[in-house]
Amino acid sequence: MFPLKVYQQRREQLRKTLGSGVLLFPGNVDAAFNYPANQYHFRQDSSFLYFFGLDHPGLAGVLDADSGEDWIFGDDVDMDDIIWMGPQPAISERAEQVGVKNTAPYGDLQKFIKKALDAGRRVHFLPPYRGETAIELEKLLGIPVAQLKERSSKVLIKGIVAQRSIKDSYEIEEISKAIDTAYLMHTTAMKMAHPGTVEQEIAGTIEGIAMAHGGPVSFPVILSMNGQTLHNHDHSQTLVKGRLMVTDAGCETALHYASDLTRTVPVGGKFDSRQKPVYEAVLAANMEGIRAIRPGVNYRDVHLLAATVMTRKLKEIGLMKGDVDEAVAAGAHALFFPHGLGHMMGLDVHDMENLGEDYVGYDDKIKRAEQFGLAFLRLGRELQPGFVLTVEPGCYFIPALIDQWKAEKLHTDFINYSEVEKYKDFGGVRIEDDVLVTDTGHRVLGKPVPKTVAEVEETMMKN
Ligand code: GLY
Ligand code: MN
Repeated sequence: MFPLKVYQQRREQLRKTLGSGVLLFPGNVDAAFNYPANQYHFRQDSSFLYFFGLDHPGLAGVLDADSGEDWIFGDDVDMDDIIWMGPQPAISERAEQVGVKNTAPYGDLQKFIKKALDAGRRVHFLPPYRGETAIELEKLLGIPVAQLKERSSKVLIKGIVAQRSIKDSYEIEEISKAIDTAYLMHTTAMKMAHPGTVEQEIAGTIEGIAMAHGGPVSFPVILSMNGQTLHNHDHSQTLVKGRLMVTDAGCETALHYASDLTRTVPVGGKFDSRQKPVYEAVLAANMEGIRAIRPGVNYRDVHLLAATVMTRKLKEIGLMKGDVDEAVAAGAHALFFPHGLGHMMGLDVHDMENLGEDYVGYDDKIKRAEQFGLAFLRLGRELQPGFVLTVEPGCYFIPALIDQWKAEKLHTDFINYSEVEKYKDFGGVRIEDDVLVTDTGHRVLGKPVPKTVAEVEETMMKN
């Protein structure tokens, strides 16, 4: 856990932002895997972790913005729990570690909330993303499950987004630790990418590295020769020389801060003459994108810059044609790059996505676009010092999408379909780094993972 004052200050700031009312934070409960007593590894709710730091199931936190009091509701363990789980600190001791003075049994929460509602006080809550939390909120607040998202507190969402978007030095250190573990995951994957190895062997090995360093993975490992499928969790293929392998993987630290890196490598260790220019197109988009990051810049413009860099390179290869700026304005590059350049990262790999992507990535000044490709950009708004975000351009040859666009004669001024046809067996390339926005520019966080053609090939030789 961070020092006690970190949690106190976070709660103090949020109470100040809200001004009045009761702020209710249901923590997560254990989730059944295949029967109630066999459970997934516990994962605490990230906003609960941010404000209360306690990483245990069955707790709720309350901030009273009028009285300034904080509460933790939860039950002390009984003898049965001690027999199965070992001795546990009392709730009051746990609460003390994060500077919360008031504690009560979980059953008292219902009375506390009822009293607040009866007094006409506003109870602020976040949109739930787990069934158990939705059912609990319905019980506590009397709001039907189906209405919880709509009736969740927009001021609370906005206040939390404002706070959690700016990472402090403790958080940056945690994220850097997560990236250093991801360095080991990715360099190990590179060294294992031999013809004849099954993808699952590599995926399982790198997931084990995450677990051995605090773990778990921050999202299910994406690792496949079919990198044209953006989130490919199928690891059943045996690696074949001449194909590329995309690995998009990261981990959580023990405090649950995430990393998220992607590397693409040639099976067998050498990029061939068709792979290298496409790889370098994506690499240029990644590096130019990173170079453009600084406070005051809209991330949408960084996305469009990366798209422009990649389009210029794809034109050199012969896959695109015509005026580069016009092609990007028309969205023609999205045949190859159909996703956004990146997202915020912190306690969640897509940070705060449960609060609503448009609250996190957009604001009153910059709204989400509707154009195919650009519409999927998760972060478009102006960058501020303290943001941590990903830069992850990609170039993919998705046969079904190529066939559809070609049949519809889409962007024929900009796409050289006869050349694109020859790449339908290519797969995809994605390169992703995690970047901090500093006061004057940016810093790529963590130990640098091999990225240039020479660095990747050299690493793959070392095994
Ligand atoms: N690393 C997976 C994603 O960003 O969606
Ligand atoms: Mn990502």
